[in-house]
Amino acid sequence: MISPLLVLAIGTCLTTSLVPEKEKDPKYWRDQAQQTLKYALRLQNLNTNVAKNVIMFLGDGMGVSTVTAARILKGQLHHSPGEETRLEMDKFPYVALSKTYNTNAQVPDSAGTATAYLCGVKANEGTVGVSAATQRSYCNTTQGNEVTSILRWAKDAGKSVGIVTTTRVNHATPSAAYAHSADRDWYSDNEMPPEALNQGCKDIAYQLMHNIRDIEVIMGGGRKYMFPKNRTDVEYDIDEKARGTRLDGLNLIDIWKSFKPRHKHSHYVWNRTELLALDPNTVDYLLGLFEPGDMQYELNRNNMTDPSLSEMVDVAIKILSKNPKGFFLLVEGGRIDHGHHEGKAKQALHEAVEMDQAIGHAGSMTSLEDTMTVVTADHSHVFTFGGYTPRGNSIFGLAPMVSDTDKKPFTSILYGNGPGYKVVGGERENVSMVDYAHNNYQAQSAVPLRHETHGGEDVAVFAKGPMAHLLHGVHEQNYIPHVMAYAACIGANRDHCASASSSGSPSPGPLLLLLALLPLGILF
Ligand SMILES: *[C@@H]1O[C@H](CO)[C@@H](O)[C@H](O)[C@H]1NC(C)=O
Ligand SMILES: *[C@@H]1O[C@H](CO)[C@@H](O)[C@H](O)[C@H]1NC(C)=O
Ligand SMILES: *[C@@H]1O[C@H](CO)[C@@H](O)[C@H](O)[C@H]1NC(C)=O
Ligand SMILES: *[C@@H]1O[C@H](CO)[C@@H](O)[C@H](O)[C@H]1NC(C)=O
Ligand SMILES: *[C@@H]1O[C@H](CO)[C@@H](O)[C@H](O)[C@H]1NC(C)=O
Ligand SMILES: [Zn+2]
Repeated sequence: MISPLLVLAIGTCLTTSLVPEKEKDPKYWRDQAQQTLKYALRLQNLNTNVAKNVIMFLGDGMGVSTVTAARILKGQLHHSPGEETRLEMDKFPYVALSKTYNTNAQVPDSAGTATAYLCGVKANEGTVGVSAATQRSYCNTTQGNEVTSILRWAKDAGKSVGIVTTTRVNHATPSAAYAHSADRDWYSDNEMPPEALNQGCKDIAYQLMHNIRDIEVIMGGGRKYMFPKNRTDVEYDIDEKARGTRLDGLNLIDIWKSFKPRHKHSHYVWNRTELLALDPNTVDYLLGLFEPGDMQYELNRNNMTDPSLSEMVDVAIKILSKNPKGFFLLVEGGRIDHGHHEGKAKQALHEAVEMDQAIGHAGSMTSLEDTMTVVTADHSHVFTFGGYTPRGNSIFGLAPMVSDTDKKPFTSILYGNGPGYKVVGGERENVSMVDYAHNNYQAQSAVPLRHETHGGEDVAVFAKGPMAHLLHGVHEQNYIPHVMAYAACIGANRDHCASASSSGSPSPGPLLLLLALLPLGILF
């Protein structure tokens, strides 16, 4: 890990001076840059270990503008100006760009992209775990076009595997890890057209419990899709929308239990208290479903009933790391995307900050010697911030001027489209009249849309640990799981596996180092 850079403790001086005092001294910047350079030079010693463990953090909708804004927010939550803050993901030594388009979409969705970064194959928007030969919503184009994910490859290699998300566990992102579905919306049979059911396609919740029966850890929301139609929810007994959805009358929790060996300890929990009361040392299989649908936004979370993403990651790693062969863990900060779709930037950014916290926690529980960690997004959003705001301006604040055209103030954060488009008396709303720092404030957009859309530009990939240097340029998104599998010696390409060792020497022999550098030399 990087030795921590100078931590800026600004606090109260912000009000008196815009520029932190120490930043006025050129030595500060030179020392900081030299320290960064020293660290960069050390990277010439490539980490070519075999990755015993692979952790993938997926920020749904976490485009680069979201990463930057979340960084500023995190700093401001710690009473710093914010811009100079380093996110946990900022500390990763390797960064690449990922081209996110789907086979049939310039601006992608979370299903086609999940198929790319989990299964290694680009696919059509709306489809999960199938190749581009499958047409969305057409059940009869599924068979024979299934593609498997790195979660399956890891399981086949004897590793433990886990899925942790803040959305429903059968939502687009996690579902590409275990399901093959022509439509991401087939959460349970209740959401499927009769034709698809007649043709024999299975809903995604059903596939979660049946396709890979020994997933060690599953945590997130989505309770209602596991229970028979109209079954009352354990937490929201009067809410009809929280009730069970299954037309086939199955209780998938019972089925999940029945597939586990009798001598193993499997636990189903539905609230945080129960989760944190578990002793991970004695848990072999864990199913945690904390909400009927998606989990609550972190800002709205009930801290009695719902765990944070960091808490889920903590328990997951403790359970998974008992396997001497290691593990693969997929962690999704799934509601960054939802906050943006609703135009609620504050919700989205707090989701991103919480995911960053989970990344830091996972880093403290694992070693760079044997654990590869990859942080990326499936796609971006039409989210932006600008307006020549001064240093330390609240990330939710106003630009320091009014429009020279309509003479009204504007927030730094804006959306290209979305629900925040507001015209009052034929004119753009005057944001000074509203609480634009509210958790649910919907930032203004240029075009009115009930749901703000995804963005089409590349997203970042942050990587650390064994073979992280192979994420180094502008890549197609489906390259990512090929690298993770190579690092873990679980994929098709195991060329380096015989000579390398899993927990062994951090510094490879000169020949190995030369061989590892060769492809980079050719590329550049
Ligand atoms: C799939 O079913 C649709 C009707 O829903 C039909 O039009 C189409 O020809 C079928 N495709 C294949 C490959 O069988
Ligand atoms: C579920 O409840 C609705 C409304 O109360 C009712 O119309 C429907 O028949 C019920 N379905 C089942 C499968 O019990
Ligand atoms: C958590 O779940 C357990 C088991 O159903 C229950 O006994 C307990 O009351 C629940 N706790 C909360 C805070 O809901
Ligand atoms: C839980 O939430 C309550 C109410 O919002 C708050 O007062 C309390 O401090 C929180 N506890 C923890 C441990 O976060
Ligand atoms: C916007 O609202 C503020 C606060 O009420 C007011 O001072 C300002 O004049 C308004 N600007 C315009 C252009 O209406
Ligand atoms: Zn989305």
